[in-house]
Amino acid sequence: MSFFKRIKEDIQVVFDQDPAARSYLEVILTYSGVHAIWLHRIAHFFYRKKFFFIARLISQISRFFTGIEIHPGAQIGHRFFIDHGMGVVIGETCEIGNDVTIFQGVTLGGTGKEKGKRHPTIKDNALIATGAKVLGSITIGAYSKVGAGSVVLKDVPDYSTVVGIPGHVVIQNGKRISQKLDHNKLPDPIDDLICELQTDVKKLKEELKFVKGEIEDDD
Ligand SMILES: CC(C)(COP(=O)(O)OP(=O)(O)OC[C@H]1O[C@@H](n2cnc3c(N)ncnc32)[C@H](O)[C@@H]1OP(=O)(O)O)[C@@H](O)C(=O)NCCC(=O)NCCS
Repeated sequence: MSFFKRIKEDIQVVFDQDPAARSYLEVILTYSGVHAIWLHRIAHFFYRKKFFFIARLISQISRFFTGIEIHPGAQIGHRFFIDHGMGVVIGETCEIGNDVTIFQGVTLGGTGKEKGKRHPTIKDNALIATGAKVLGSITIGAYSKVGAGSVVLKDVPDYSTVVGIPGHVVIQNGKRISQKLDHNKLPDPIDDLICELQTDVKKLKEELKFVKGEIEDDD
C-alpha cells in the first residue's frame, strides 16, 4: 500500500471511530494517537534495519510529545486507532491486527515472567477499553472487547467480552455467560481471601465443638 494511501487510512479511521473529529486539519494536528502511530512506523522501520538506538530514540521522542509509549519492535496492523492516548504502553513483542481500537491508559505489557514473545497478540477488530491491562503472551480474540479497568492474564476467545480483575468472559458469541457478576463491586482478591478464611474458621470451630463433645455425630 502506498505511503499516502496509508496516511489517508489512518485519518479516515479517526472519522469512523470518533464522532468528535471535525476536519482533516484537526485530526492531522491534534490527534496524538495518530502522531504516535506515524512515529512508530518510522521507529519500526529503523528497528527492522537493526538500528535499535535510533528506533528507541524516535519512540521516546514520540512518548514525550504524545504520552503514548510504543516499543519500536511492536507489530501493528492497518487502521489502528488509539483514542486520547495518554498513558498507553505497548510492549516490544506485541502483535496487533487490523482495525484494533484502544483507549487511554491501556497497557499491552509483559508479566515479567516470560522471555521471548512476552507481550499480547491482539486479533483484528478487538477493542480494549480505557485503563485495561493485558499482560503476558496471551491472545485477545478477533472482535472481542476488554472492559475498562480490566486486568486480563489469559487468552480471550473471538467474539467475547471480558471484564474484571482478573478478567473473565461475560459474553461470548452474543450470549451472556451464566455467572453472577457483581459489577458494582470490583473483584477483590483480599476480600475473597477473607471470605475463604471465614469459612475455614467456621469449619474449624464446628470440628472443635465436635471434638469437645458439644455436638453429636450424625453418623
Ligand atoms: C466492555 C464494554 C466495551 C462493553 O462491552 P459489551 O460487550 O457491550 O458488554 P455489556 O455492556 O453488555 O456488559 C456486559 C456485562 O459486563 C459489565 N461490564 C461492562 N463493562 C465493565 C467493566 N469495565 N468492568 C466491570 N464490568 C463491566 C456490564 O455491567 C454487564 O454486566 P451484567 O451482564 O451483569 O449487566 C464497555 O463496557 C466498556 O468498558 N466501555 C468503555 C469504553 C471506553 O474505554 N470509553 C472511554 C472513552 S474516553
